[in-house]
Amino acid sequence: MPIYHKLGKFPQKRHTQFEKPDGSLYYEQLFGTIGFDGMSSLLYHVHRPTQVKEIGKAIDMTPKIAVAKNIASRKLVGFDVAPKDDFLEAREPMMVNSDVLIGLAAPRKSITDYFYKNADADEMLFIHKGTGTLKTFLGNIPFEYGDYLIIPRGMIYQMEFDTEENRILYAESSSPIYTPKRYRNYFGQLLEHSPFCERDYKLPQDLQTHDEKGEFVMKIKKQGMLHHLVYATHPFDVVGWDGYNFPYGFSIHNFEPITGRVHQPPPVHQTFETSAFVICSFCPRMYDYHPKSIPAPYNHSNIDSDEMLYYVDGDFMSRTGIGPGYISLHPSGIPHGPHPGTYEASIGKTKTEELAVMIDTFKPLQLTENAMKIDDGKYFSSWLDKE
Ligand SMILES: [Fe+2]
Repeated sequence: MPIYHKLGKFPQKRHTQFEKPDGSLYYEQLFGTIGFDGMSSLLYHVHRPTQVKEIGKAIDMTPKIAVAKNIASRKLVGFDVAPKDDFLEAREPMMVNSDVLIGLAAPRKSITDYFYKNADADEMLFIHKGTGTLKTFLGNIPFEYGDYLIIPRGMIYQMEFDTEENRILYAESSSPIYTPKRYRNYFGQLLEHSPFCERDYKLPQDLQTHDEKGEFVMKIKKQGMLHHLVYATHPFDVVGWDGYNFPYGFSIHNFEPITGRVHQPPPVHQTFETSAFVICSFCPRMYDYHPKSIPAPYNHSNIDSDEMLYYVDGDFMSRTGIGPGYISLHPSGIPHGPHPGTYEASIGKTKTEELAVMIDTFKPLQLTENAMKIDDGKYFSSWLDKE
């Protein structure tokens, strides 16, 4: 997160004595990424954050692959993923490669009896349905429909839902998730041509400090395993922190679309980047305004990237038979484009209400057994002319 943020109290000079009211010391922790080269924050704990009491049995979270080498365009009916009470059990991996795991989840209940962190990956949670609060040891972020929550690796968190009907698209990225470099200046500030700015970020707030001892379960995803540790102190015991490494939110509704006289390519929709994939937001916008423009996209061959689209709301102009919660996958190796009739039908239209999230990966995606359960099996042939 290339802006500075701070919450709570901390000493004026880093790495110096910071005394509690009783004269004992708070415990400093540098929380960084990419060794000591990436973004970091300095945290101050009531207790040493290292007090492991027990290590339980780990659970293997490796996705079960059904199609390792895919050439078929796919359509998945995302809302057919069954709701489950627990946030982690509800998460169903759909598509994976060595860089990213993309999944869907319909969790019903808040996390109350454990804390979670992903030590393998930065997480992106896109909230399609539901409201609540992302509670973290660096402060809380209220969320609602349309929010991206970006949670850098290692952040300890709980999900608190206000509702039981929740739908989440998530991505676990083995490389850090950043905003696009081309929209930031040398100092990291978002430039004037960026489709969003710092004011749009939902930063952690309302830091709550728990000075408690006891037994606190922490579930840690590492090397594809879900480890079970019991800590002797409450993980949310930070009294203050400052720095650049923290979770944040951004609403897709605050993405300002870039439009033009003729069809604009997908990079204008880019919202986040990693070294291995991009995340784009397709938002309601005015269509191209050249008198001979064709608003629907041209057929295109990204010969070396898989394109996953998650449909959120509105009519998706270039596709037929698509509804909210659907996923389409257009794999590398073959071109894809508008469905029959939609290319011509788009002419003369002035605006779209479509809302979708796209994840384009540079390596091919493998499909999981979960994905094949909600795959319609015939999408690949849906571009044929009707006889
Ligand atoms: Fe495409």
